[in-house]
Amino acid sequence: MQPVFAPFPSGRFRRSRRSEALRALTQEVSLSASDLIWPVFVRDGRNVREPVASMPGVERLSVELVVEAAATAHGLGIPAICLFPYTDPALKTADCREAWNPENLANRAIRAIKAQVPGIAVMTDVALDPYNALGHDGLVRDGVILNDETIEALVKMTLAQADAGADILGPSDMMDGRIGAMRSALETAGHKDVAILSYAAKYASAFYGPFRDAVGASGALKGDKKTYQMNPGNSDEALRLVARDLSEGADMVMVKPGMPYLDICRRVKDAFGAPTFAYQVSGEYAMIRGAALNGWIDGDKAMMETLLGFKRAGCDGILTYFAPEAARLLRGQ
Ligand code: PBG
Repeated sequence: MQPVFAPFPSGRFRRSRRSEALRALTQEVSLSASDLIWPVFVRDGRNVREPVASMPGVERLSVELVVEAAATAHGLGIPAICLFPYTDPALKTADCREAWNPENLANRAIRAIKAQVPGIAVMTDVALDPYNALGHDGLVRDGVILNDETIEALVKMTLAQADAGADILGPSDMMDGRIGAMRSALETAGHKDVAILSYAAKYASAFYGPFRDAVGASGALKGDKKTYQMNPGNSDEALRLVARDLSEGADMVMVKPGMPYLDICRRVKDAFGAPTFAYQVSGEYAMIRGAALNGWIDGDKAMMETLLGFKRAGCDGILTYFAPEAARLLRGQ
């Protein structure tokens, strides 16, 4: 594109900014509720609502309240909800076997939502960390995160989630080769229509801190995730990872975290044109919410500005803890 404009005074950019009507007409991108995926935390029990201290406004919900939340989201026009289980520490083991238990918390929640709110798409998390006594996304032996053995576990997890009725699987583990293994297992098992939204470019980030509290993984985690999550200094590598995951059968791809990586969103969208998502992660939520609660910024405006920013950067959609609030604001409620 070659921008052309008349020199001043023939050209005055302020003409198209002078009223609400002109600004609306000339706006290039917009945000709608249909762009949002809402991540929610599931816990055991009945009618339990438990606040997450580092994410004010976010709660862990027991299964029947998650179903209610899904119904609310569906009513607001949010197309998908993404489930993250808070697993009882007693169920966390070194072999992570609870991850593929058909009756685990995540799988029970998937079934309950699909039975009662069939119109909302249910996305899952495919990674071992909520079930791992060592807090890592992969199986660990002698301090090393094992790639190929982890994939076998992820495939079992994949099939249990697909059997439970998941619409979109979200592998967030960053092992190499998992997309191809998951895709071929799904084909073989007759789950040919289950989508994969790959966490393709997931960076080793400090912004995941509040999430690890929310799923109870902070205490368990020893060390960091730098041998499998990306180095924040890399950008070309993100394109290679996205290319790899798409060629192995991912339907959609994600960049994570969101705000510090908008350049990656733009490059990924321009290079591949695939459905591209950003995850506005827990630490980003906490920053905006925390500042708003202190009266330092206007929380609603800052929230909407960040979400629009993802669209402008080329994203088709955003995973955000703000989803229901943003959807309500978009409706003027
Ligand atoms: C782990 C996982 C993480 C998030 C989603 N899945 C954290 C991590 O990699 O340690 C982070 C989400 C957030 O911070 O909101 N498989």
